[in-house]
Amino acid sequence: MIYFDYAATAIKREEILKYIWENKEEFDGNPDSLHAKGRASKKILEESREKIAQSIGTDPKNVIFTSGASESNNTVLSQFKNSKIITSAIEHDSILKAIDKENSIFLAANEYGIISLEDLKNKITEDTKLVSIMYVNNESGAIQPVKEIGEFLKDKDICFHVDAVQAYGHLDIDVNEIGCDFLSLSGHKIGGLNGFGILYSRKNINPFIKGGEQEKNRRAGTSFVAGAYAMAESFPKTIKEREKIREVKTYFIEKLEKSKINYQINGSMENSSDHILNIYFKDYKSDFLLTYLDMQGICASAGSACRAGSFLPSHVITNMYDEDRARHSIRFSFGYTNTKEEVDKAIEVLEGLNNEG
Ligand SMILES: Cc1ncc(COP(=O)(O)O)c(C=O)c1O
Repeated sequence: MIYFDYAATAIKREEILKYIWENKEEFDGNPDSLHAKGRASKKILEESREKIAQSIGTDPKNVIFTSGASESNNTVLSQFKNSKIITSAIEHDSILKAIDKENSIFLAANEYGIISLEDLKNKITEDTKLVSIMYVNNESGAIQPVKEIGEFLKDKDICFHVDAVQAYGHLDIDVNEIGCDFLSLSGHKIGGLNGFGILYSRKNINPFIKGGEQEKNRRAGTSFVAGAYAMAESFPKTIKEREKIREVKTYFIEKLEKSKINYQINGSMENSSDHILNIYFKDYKSDFLLTYLDMQGICASAGSACRAGSFLPSHVITNMYDEDRARHSIRFSFGYTNTKEEVDKAIEVLEGLNNEG
């Protein structure tokens, strides 16, 4: 099996799972319990919070543990009910489906998948309360000008939220350098466990999930200790793997160029993350391609959802080009297990399409 779908979720890390299993007693307790088991879990939870905070250049008190970036994004939006928001048309669905559309402006991306700072400046009004822009797009890999946006918003009475899920581990993130008030991250995209993420917040927030007093009254629910540990331990590993991941992506492109495959890259290579490559195959529909690749043991993806067995074309590629191109595009996304030999195999399989006519 060749797994080229890291932007969906990463292959779980054996050494982390092994540590959790072999030291299970440290993870058993509820960190809010006062007994020894609770204290052992609390220690891991708070050590992990410290490491995660450090990874984005902030203080642990600004890190709120959540069930993932979808919840983090929803939490931010819930603070701005009936407020004017500016976001982009290429955000993740956890922004687009949770946002109050009547009160929001959606910036378009250009053909490179990048939104324009000028466009944002022109659309800001006295009433704008929040700007929410992702760092790296999950479908095209395009890097958005979040530092420039942060700089522009710095002396304005407007909050800035960055969904940095696909940037985490791949680009250096310093919340002070970006100048954001909120930032969402997910653990499972870098090899942590599904169902764990964080919301960085330098503001007081009202809990989106209400109940217990966990997370200093900012998010209720018994803490996912193993999730926090897995995210904290995955981060330094991902940093070390960056170079190798970029090499795999570059090699994929080189092999494509040398092949007889009819393709075009969606977006630009210059302003793009090291792990995402979105390709337009004019002659084949994405659902056909994905099924064909799957039958040959290759996992890739297209669009954002699959309903009743059919793929919805990616709203991101549609926004950059058009729906027809989106229906003929697929995403390959790379991670630490991938090798150049796997790329050779994938290119061979794609070339096989030509032979089949
Ligand atoms: C850019 C982006 N934001 C948010 C999410 C949601 O993350 P989670 O799966 O942790 O809820 C994803 C995951 O697909 C993503 O790629």
